Amino acid sequence: MYKEIVSGKEKVAVVGLGYVGLPLALEFAKKVDVIGVDVNEGHVAKLWRGEDPNGELGSDSFLDRKISFTTNPAELKGAKFIIIAVPTPVDKYNKPDLKPLLTATKSVGKYLKKGDYVVYESTVYPGCTEEECVPLLEQMSGLKCGPDFKVGYSPERINPGDLEHSLQNTIKIVSGCDDESLEEIAKTYELVVKAGVHRAPAMKVAEAAKIIENTQRDVNIALMNELSILFNRMNINTYDVLNAAGTKWNFMKFSPGLVGGHCIGVDPYYLVHKAAELKYHTQMVASGRFVNDSMGGYIAKQTVKRILAGGKASLENLRVLVMGVTYKENVSDIRNSKVSDIVNELVSYNIDVDVIDPKADAHEVLEEYNIQIQKEPVGLYHAVIVAVSHKEYVGLSADEFRKLLMPGGLLVDVRGIYRSLSKEFKYWSL
Ligand SMILES: NC(=O)c1ccc[n+]([C@@H]2O[C@H](COP(=O)([O-])OP(=O)(O)OC[C@H]3O[C@@H](n4cnc5c(N)ncnc54)[C@H](O)[C@@H]3O)[C@@H](O)[C@H]2O)c1
Repeated sequence: MYKEIVSGKEKVAVVGLGYVGLPLALEFAKKVDVIGVDVNEGHVAKLWRGEDPNGELGSDSFLDRKISFTTNPAELKGAKFIIIAVPTPVDKYNKPDLKPLLTATKSVGKYLKKGDYVVYESTVYPGCTEEECVPLLEQMSGLKCGPDFKVGYSPERINPGDLEHSLQNTIKIVSGCDDESLEEIAKTYELVVKAGVHRAPAMKVAEAAKIIENTQRDVNIALMNELSILFNRMNINTYDVLNAAGTKWNFMKFSPGLVGGHCIGVDPYYLVHKAAELKYHTQMVASGRFVNDSMGGYIAKQTVKRILAGGKASLENLRVLVMGVTYKENVSDIRNSKVSDIVNELVSYNIDVDVIDPKADAHEVLEEYNIQIQKEPVGLYHAVIVAVSHKEYVGLSADEFRKLLMPGGLLVDVRGIYRSLSKEFKYWSL
């Protein structure tokens, strides 16, 4: 397979051209022929025009690439190495929603041929590829995994908005259903990952590795969030503590904050789900989720309490400005953003909340959260909550906040980026 791909006899296909699939497809397309498949017609039209629907990549990323885009899965007949990078969200009960993954698997299975390779990149619980995807591929194709076609799992590690760590310079974990496929898959990914690949001994291992990378972050951030709730009661600034503790060589640098998005805030639920099936309660993992999911409401309540504390303001006619609504800094992605929890909690007190964000798409925010983003702040506010540390917000001066805050107004610094202004205003950070 590898030789046929490199010689141009066979093609690579990427199914799902989002944050993960598109950069990967374009990277392969520098070297080999690629077919990009996505169900979203609007996205595919943009891709043909050299536009990234998510706004992450510039038009130069599309130049001189051997790639075609389609919504028609039948075109997969022309590919031998098929990568699946579709979403793996949770449902409203925080249970894995495998619908997109299984739908994509069905489409791929329908056109699967002898000798094909299917590699999953979507984040799943350990065992999912073998237990859910392989049987469906076999059923749809009438072929047998192993003798007829091969399957692998290679998790993506990209970090949107991060210009330092890329697909090319981050070691990629690869795995296969047998030794032969592991080697072929490894060589194929080595075409695009300069940092090289790590050959995991089984697909389950690669799945587990990906999910614990994000679970480890989630649990550690939850610990910082819990400590920040405690330090708040003790009148200690958490960041002062972290700066002091961080001087020890083995203190790990995590900080409190909102955990949203489609990875860290979601993947641990996949692990919790699988553990429950095996009659094991992953208490550390689940409690990390509990703490992090509670932070939006906590920030809102602290804000209200502190505005009212001086006795000068009453709940009626309170105005709050929330700066930043994306799930993290310097991205336009709003999926599973916990800023909406802050807004909803404030609104539940009948507080008048204005929201601004330099990156988020106003239509998407309205559709997803029923929150109307304003172009600009209007008038003065009892509190300003800087929820996301977009580069446009980092380094804002005391004068800029003075233009936004009523006399005696409160600056809520969720990410602790304005600590130098803590004496200028009523100030609170996590
Ligand atoms: N975004 C990240 O930072 C990141 C990092 C590592 C891993 N992941 C994982 O990678 C996977 C993909 O995430 P993403 O952020 O790229 O998602 P995304 O929503 O940005 O993109 C997924 C794309 O798949 C398309 N799609 C959905 N169903 C399809 C189908 N049946 N056939 C063809 N196309 C289909 C969608 O239209 C969309 O364009 C998820 O499992 C995610 O957890 C994401």
